[in-house]
Parts: sequence; structure tokens; C-alpha cells
Amino acid sequence: MSKQKIIVTGGAGYIGSHTVVELIEAGYEPIIVDNYSNADRGIIVQIEKITGKTVQHYELDCNDLAAFRKVFEAEKNVLGSIHFAAAKAVGESVANPLKYYHNNLQSLVNLLQLQLEFGLEYLVFSSSCTVYGQPEKLPVTENSPIQKANSPYGNTKQICEEIIEDTVTSKAKLKAASLRYFNPIGAHPSAMIGELPFGVPNNLVPFITQTAAGLRESLTIFGHDYDTVDGTCVRDYIHVVDLAKAHVRALDWLQSQEQNSLHEAFNLGMGKGYTVLEIVQTFEKVNDLKLNYRLGDRRPGDVVKIYGNVDKASHILKWQTKLGIEEALKDAWRWEERLKGIELVK
Ligand code: UFG
Repeated sequence: MSKQKIIVTGGAGYIGSHTVVELIEAGYEPIIVDNYSNADRGIIVQIEKITGKTVQHYELDCNDLAAFRKVFEAEKNVLGSIHFAAAKAVGESVANPLKYYHNNLQSLVNLLQLQLEFGLEYLVFSSSCTVYGQPEKLPVTENSPIQKANSPYGNTKQICEEIIEDTVTSKAKLKAASLRYFNPIGAHPSAMIGELPFGVPNNLVPFITQTAAGLRESLTIFGHDYDTVDGTCVRDYIHVVDLAKAHVRALDWLQSQEQNSLHEAFNLGMGKGYTVLEIVQTFEKVNDLKLNYRLGDRRPGDVVKIYGNVDKASHILKWQTKLGIEEALKDAWRWEERLKGIELVK
């Protein structure tokens, strides 16, 4: 039997590339669609080295409907898609909201339009715990109230989930899962793919690894007087490989469902909160090094404390996290060290 093809938009990005590896290992045939606006072309070669398989890939912007349609015309019998392609910097979205509304919403609308036109029944959507804002009750479940988004980026994730919900409600033949990620960290244990921020990283772990590597002078911990165990913010982190595997589980689960139309949301995290200081100290411990850091001012817009209840993914998708923050922080550091030796195109 030929392998089942899955279109993976943003498949050269951080979570996308790890998911492509897991898809191949599970026997699927991923087809990457990426415009490399926030990814390196060299990642494709790395994926091929890890898996020993060649990967079909198209360079285009999902907002370009005509170009995107050509992929659907060229690739026959595609089963479904996983949609990662989106802009994701919270601060940039506040400064340039129209870029986010245009990019993140239009690409999903195009994808859905093409899926319905070409009869692709399955969609796994890359959502975020940002849809919960600062929850009143912790841990958050999928039924916790969706709060007003605190950034245009967060709003696009909420609106995208609504677009999918409305499409399903219209009785279109579509089975969809929105995966609400908590904070993905770490890298593939081979250290051949990982997070590749362009410019100064916004996120904690790449900032830590770049500081340890001497690329940044010092890490600033944003806020140390919050109402938490040590005064720093609490997040639910998840190893990117565990997260990638959840996409495969979601795809398998969607195929086992009999109804024509459905949309379910799933939290994906470790189900545990760690403070920023705990992450820093664990990084130092597992990698046996000292990090240059200082306690600084709060970052505007930060949620103080969030972690998820992940029982729904565990019961329905039969998915569990296997890797902890120790492995994630070791893998992140191994990737940072390997980066020096990898030839990247961009
Ligand atoms: N942090 C620092 N110093 C840094 C960077 C981050 O102290 O240099 C702290 C932040 O203040 C926060 C924690 O580390 O307390 C995690 O910050 P990240 O920027 O890594 O992640 P966020 O939780 O802010 O953002 C993540 C995703 C977003 C998503 C958001 C929802 O990256 O895509 O969660 O809350 F929108």
C-alpha cells in the first residue's frame, strides 16, 4: 500500500520539522509547504539525514492561493494536512497587527478552501494556550473560558479555531483537531534539527542557550516579584519531540472517527508548571555549566502563571509526554552546540 500523504505547512519550522520526522517514522509521507520566512532551507537536508528518506517540499506562501492550489493539483490522493505556517512573535504582532491578521487568517482560509475543493478530510491545526489568557483557575482544561486575547497573535489563534469550528458546523466534510500547545522547548535528540530563531530570540530557552554559547551577554529574567514560589513566571513546558508525536496521534485519531464533521481541541503540555528560575537552574545542573543571568523588570503582557490539564489528550489521543525538562534542556543545549557545525542556507 502506498504511504498516506500529508501536507505540512510550515514543515521546515521548529515544531513542523520535528513533526515531519515523526510522520515519516510513523509511515506517513509528509509534503512540506514552506516559504522559509522563519525557517532555513537547510533543515530539509537535516530531516532527510535523520530519516534516510527524501522529502517532497514546495517553496511557496500559503497566502498565495494560486501557487498553493498547484500543490493540490500536483499531489494526488493527499489525506489531510497539518497547518503550522504562521507568524508567531507576540511583540511583533502588537507592532504590526495587520501582518498577523493577513498572514495567519488568510493562509488557513486558503488551506480550508483547497481541502474542501480537493476532498482532504483531515486537519490538525497548530493552536496555542494563549487562547486562555491568564486563567482564573489552574490547571486549565479545554473547557476553561477563552479570554480576550492579549495580543493580535493570540487573537489570530482564537479566530482560526473559530474559522475551523464554523467550517465544521456548516457540515463540510472536515475532521479537525486544534492542538493548544503550552511552551515547546528542546530539540531532536540527534541534535540535527531544533529551534532556529532569526535575530534576538524572544523565547526563554533559545535565549538561555545563546547566552551559554556566548552569543548573548546575559539573560534577563523578566520579573521576580510575582506571586509565585520564587517570584518568577510559571509556564508548562513540553519537549518538542513529545509535541511532534501528538500530531501523529491526532491524525490517527481523526481517521478513526466516523462522523463526517468534527472539531476537537486538545491541550498539549507536561501538565506541570515550572518557574523561569527553575528552568535556568535545571539548565545549569543538567549541562553542568553556569549561566550569566540577572533579575530584571517584568515584561509587559506576560501571563503570570499557566499550566494545563492534559487528561483529554491522554484519554482520547492515547498520548503521554515521555520527556521532562531535564531532557529538553540537555537536547536544547546539544542543538545549540551542534549549530556551529551545521551548514545552513539562510
Ligand atoms: N523570559 C525571560 N527572559 C527572556 C525570555 C523569556 O525571563 O529573555 C520569561 C518570560 O517572561 C516568561 C517565560 O520566560 O515568563 C517564557 O517566555 P517565552 O517568551 O519563552 O514564552 P511565553 O510563555 O511568553 O510565550 C509562549 C509562546 C507564545 C504564546 C504564549 C502564550 O511563545 O507563542 O506562550 O502565553 F503566545
